[in-house]
Amino acid sequence: MQGSNNRILWNPQQYGRYRDERSRPFFELLAQVDAPAAHTVADLGCGPGELTATLAEHWPDARIYGVDNSAEMLAAAEKHAIPDRLSFELGDAATWQPPAPLDLLVSNATLHWLPNHDQLLPHLVSLLAPQGVFAFQVPGNFDYPSHTILKQLRTSSRWADKLGWGADRSASSQSPAWYFELLSGLGMKVNAWETTYLHVLQGEDAVLQWVKGTALRPVISALNPEDQAEFTAEYAARLREAYPQREYGTLFPFRRIFVVAQLQV
Ligand SMILES: C[S@@+](CC[C@H](N)C(=O)[O-])C[C@H]1O[C@@H](n2cnc3c(N)ncnc32)[C@H](O)[C@@H]1O
Repeated sequence: MQGSNNRILWNPQQYGRYRDERSRPFFELLAQVDAPAAHTVADLGCGPGELTATLAEHWPDARIYGVDNSAEMLAAAEKHAIPDRLSFELGDAATWQPPAPLDLLVSNATLHWLPNHDQLLPHLVSLLAPQGVFAFQVPGNFDYPSHTILKQLRTSSRWADKLGWGADRSASSQSPAWYFELLSGLGMKVNAWETTYLHVLQGEDAVLQWVKGTALRPVISALNPEDQAEFTAEYAARLREAYPQREYGTLFPFRRIFVVAQLQV
């Protein structure tokens, strides 16, 4: 199974800047999970661990594993660890092996960083115990301006030499119906849906600040400081046109795909 080998330096502070907007989908995903007796639970791509810690509150008798491939995120997560109950470890979501079959596998806002969902998802389902539940959420906004502008800039004549690399990540996230078909075919009962949130972001260059916590990171980390400043200024100007700041804030529509699937045997 191929993992993500992007060397992305995540910054937990930047990521946490829009904490409320980013955590809402996690709780809306978990609201659909019916696994009262879960004993072994994993959170793949646990990030700074705050949301993983809420799993420990919800399933007080479970052993919970947070897994992430960013040392920076894990350093932030460590403060949420609970001896023998909640631990965090470095691992790749594509290849991590749990110490026991999972009653619940959660992955929030992470699997879109990994390619080939037609192979990845059957592998992840194979980690489940009988009746196990797989719950994940991925962005479905890769054709929205925050992404299309980034791609236009990356591939423009000014930047293509330095930034034209890489597969288009829009290929990873699929539609709710696509996930429904795939997971039903694996013998699961599937609940799949999508929501477009209308975030109202506060502050100057709010969409830039949001994207700095995620999609802009691999791009920026490929540039030297001078180029980073130039690229960011150009991107910021285009974002201001696409997402104008109003007196109430900046409207930022954001589509997300949700799937909760349970093995039937
Ligand atoms: C957008 S953050 C989501 C963090 C957390 N799940 C949340 O909802 O706040 C994505 C996380 O996935 C992690 N990640 C990306 N690719 C990964 C991979 N291949 N294996 C494990 N973690 C990965 C990143 O390091 C980052 O912490």
